[in-house]
Amino acid sequence: MSVGIDRIGLHTSYFYLDSIKFANLFGIKENVFKRTIDQIKNSVIAKNEDVVSLALNAVEKIILPNEKFDMFIFATETSFDNSKAASLYLSEYLNINKNCICFEIKQACYASTAALICGINYIKSNENAKVLIVASDVAEYMPNTNGQFTNGNGAVAFILSSNPKLIEIEDNFSSIHQNAYDFFKPHEEKYAIVFGQDSIQLYLNFFNILHLNFQKDSILIPHMPFSLMFDKICNFKEEFKKYLKYKEEIKCYTKEIGNCYSASIFLALCSLFDNCKEDLSNKNLLFFAYGSGAMATLFNAKVISGYKLFLNTHYNKALLLRRKKVENFDNKNLFNDLKGEWVIDKIEDYKRFYKKNG
Ligand code: HMG
Repeated sequence: MSVGIDRIGLHTSYFYLDSIKFANLFGIKENVFKRTIDQIKNSVIAKNEDVVSLALNAVEKIILPNEKFDMFIFATETSFDNSKAASLYLSEYLNINKNCICFEIKQACYASTAALICGINYIKSNENAKVLIVASDVAEYMPNTNGQFTNGNGAVAFILSSNPKLIEIEDNFSSIHQNAYDFFKPHEEKYAIVFGQDSIQLYLNFFNILHLNFQKDSILIPHMPFSLMFDKICNFKEEFKKYLKYKEEIKCYTKEIGNCYSASIFLALCSLFDNCKEDLSNKNLLFFAYGSGAMATLFNAKVISGYKLFLNTHYNKALLLRRKKVENFDNKNLFNDLKGEWVIDKIEDYKRFYKKNG
């Protein structure tokens, strides 16, 4: 049975910052920044935006009126509740059928791939099932640390089904994990505790180990915490240089947004699809999912012939162009008032209410 991604959509916040200008404030020159981080913008979250509002905007774009789902998974590491699933908010506002299995899943940036594996297996034992997945995260590092160069946010929503229109996922998941302290966020801490260089090394080591099982000619779609991570993989070993071919197309959206944790790997897929002029029908993709802590999986997919007809390219590009520029990450006075976008309406007794800007 062919199972994979049938539709995909994305969203990011209303504000952004000029990454190079921001790095200059730290004393980092433009040429150094380009060869170490290579961001041009970082999305900045507004006061009335959160993982749920980002996700509402992404999911609404891809679902049809009255469409029914069997499972709905929300992948995130930056939700605001340690118990209740963020998917339940979306179920209310987007009127998802109430007999669908609805939950949240976490393992740092890896959560979206855990959701995908869960969804694929569900469909394999329930052929006509449809699984809705949204990965939504806000990456905010401690002010005045170099982690801030990788701040960002975004949501990517996708629907898994049999006979998909975009990509077919192959059954060759190859995985590795280790109890590591490269990046972690204890409940008491507002920001993650990060050992930047160690996290990069672990990420590259995991890729290197898993790659031994994958020799097929493929296009690499990795988790990208910042755009230069793509180059770091390709330059790690001579044999990985083959992945440089579609580098700019794959990096494009990360360069514009920054890290969006669990959404990042699927943002890279959207970036390739929207920015590659060549017809990629029947090409092999190699996904590298990584979540700190740490867990990684490498797996293949194949692009479905005719996929271009089902993309939201025009919309996605307009989404990045609609943003307003700000000078720093301080969002105290930033509010998204753009007509037609979901935002937080109010928070009362810890309860969050959402509305669409009128
Ligand atoms: P960095 O400090 O920019 O990196 O942080 P660097 O140490 O490589 O420095 C780059 C260059 O900037 C160097 O120049 C520094 O000297 C210079 P060079 O030596 O190459 O000529 N520089 C400065 N110059 C003047 N004044 C300064 C200054 N600071 C640096 N003040 C890093 C980059 C990615 C490490 C950082 O942004 C970070 O810690 N980010 C967060 C962690 C991360 O993204 N890790 C990636 C792999 S782990 C992962 O992907 C999982 C993750 O997504 C989380 C999850 O799974 O949930 C993060």
